[in-house]
Amino acid sequence: MYRILATSTDPRLLELPWHIPLADWPAELLVALPHGISRHVVRFIRVGDEVLAAKEMPVEAASHEYRMLQDLVRLKLPTVEPVGVVTDRYCANGEALGAILLTRHLHFSLPYQALFGRGIQAETVTKLLDAMVVLLVRLHLGGFMWGDVSLSNVLFLRDAGQFAAYLVDAETGELHDVLSDGQRAADQDIAIVNVFGGFCDLEAAGHLDASVDPMQVSEYVAERYLALWDELTCEQELGNDELSRIETRVRRLGELGFDVAELAVTTSPDGTRITVQPKVVDAGHHARRLMRLTGLDTQENQARRLLNDMDAYRAITNQWGVDESIVAQCWLREQFLPALAVIPPELSHKLDPAQLYHEILDYRWFQAEREHRAVPIQEAAVGYVCDVLSHLPDEEVTAG
Ligand SMILES: Nc1ncnc2c1ncn2[C@@H]1O[C@H](COP(=O)(O)OP(=O)(O)OP(=O)(O)O)[C@@H](O)[C@H]1O
Ligand SMILES: [Mg+2]
Repeated sequence: MYRILATSTDPRLLELPWHIPLADWPAELLVALPHGISRHVVRFIRVGDEVLAAKEMPVEAASHEYRMLQDLVRLKLPTVEPVGVVTDRYCANGEALGAILLTRHLHFSLPYQALFGRGIQAETVTKLLDAMVVLLVRLHLGGFMWGDVSLSNVLFLRDAGQFAAYLVDAETGELHDVLSDGQRAADQDIAIVNVFGGFCDLEAAGHLDASVDPMQVSEYVAERYLALWDELTCEQELGNDELSRIETRVRRLGELGFDVAELAVTTSPDGTRITVQPKVVDAGHHARRLMRLTGLDTQENQARRLLNDMDAYRAITNQWGVDESIVAQCWLREQFLPALAVIPPELSHKLDPAQLYHEILDYRWFQAEREHRAVPIQEAAVGYVCDVLSHLPDEEVTAG
């Protein structure tokens, strides 16, 4: 017997052997995907066309994590999506089993060990840490105190030349209206200690380039966090004649990928000074704009790249006076979709569509430089498939 609380109504969920400890599930139900270090038993299971991550854990912890993940999804924060909790599990001999938390497998995600296993450059380390810091700051802005910030509790997605980080383990998390400085500091301390520990482990295993020092890396996380938090939230005092600096600030936040949804402005009693402080900032400035224009769901830097390409397309086709949404539809029809149509179906699962398009753009740029001519996107896509994509490892399957 068992009990399922789930957002999915797929009847195939009910056919799974919940009465067996997760560690003993038959291989034919499982999918071999890379995953990070974990205390609990974690397995990926196929349910119809979907892959779910299953984590066996105590009932209270599973229910708490399920609720936390639901809250994070509601707050539109980057996290794995909860699908359900299975409780009241018993073996055939009547012995009680732990609960299972089900989350949707985050497609194209990479645990950090998968990235380090192949040898990693110092620059990539910085990009991973930057992504992790953005995630932590976004969670804190949303009132979420994580309690277990670590590289193994983050999943990375490729995002044009950068990475985007997603939360994967919310077991220790707490949601508050607003976090106090002390609560944020506690998370920062945990991040510093765990990043240091994680990098020491990588070093001991021989996966770290000699130029990367665990101490420096953890200090970098601390500095980046403070700088980004400050940029997003600090109070700024301006004179009456400096009002244009408000716009500069809003623009700078936009460049960082954040939109200001609410700005608190207070004037001094004599009216000569004003203080300005962003109150609500939402990440995903470019991703939202691209989504509105094209319906494409991408990461932030991918969106930036695609929007730039759309602007270049607008200039080349001389469509300056034309409405932006019409240009976007033409760009989709004439550039984005034709380029992706070149990718053979058996290679299309190697990277997500926006990442593929980003890489085709890179490939085209190098080809155009080499051959001193404008290269049509479809021609670049053909070259990219042949020279690059067909040689790329299948990240999801081999990364472990
Ligand atoms: N939805 C998911 N999509 C992709 N990978 C996942 C998902 N859920 C879990 N994983 C993988 O499983 C690993 C372990 O999950 P998780 O961190 O939740 O386990 P844990 O036992 O609670 O960890 P800890 O030891 O930190 O408590 C993650 O690092 C991640 O690689
Ligand atoms: Mg974990």
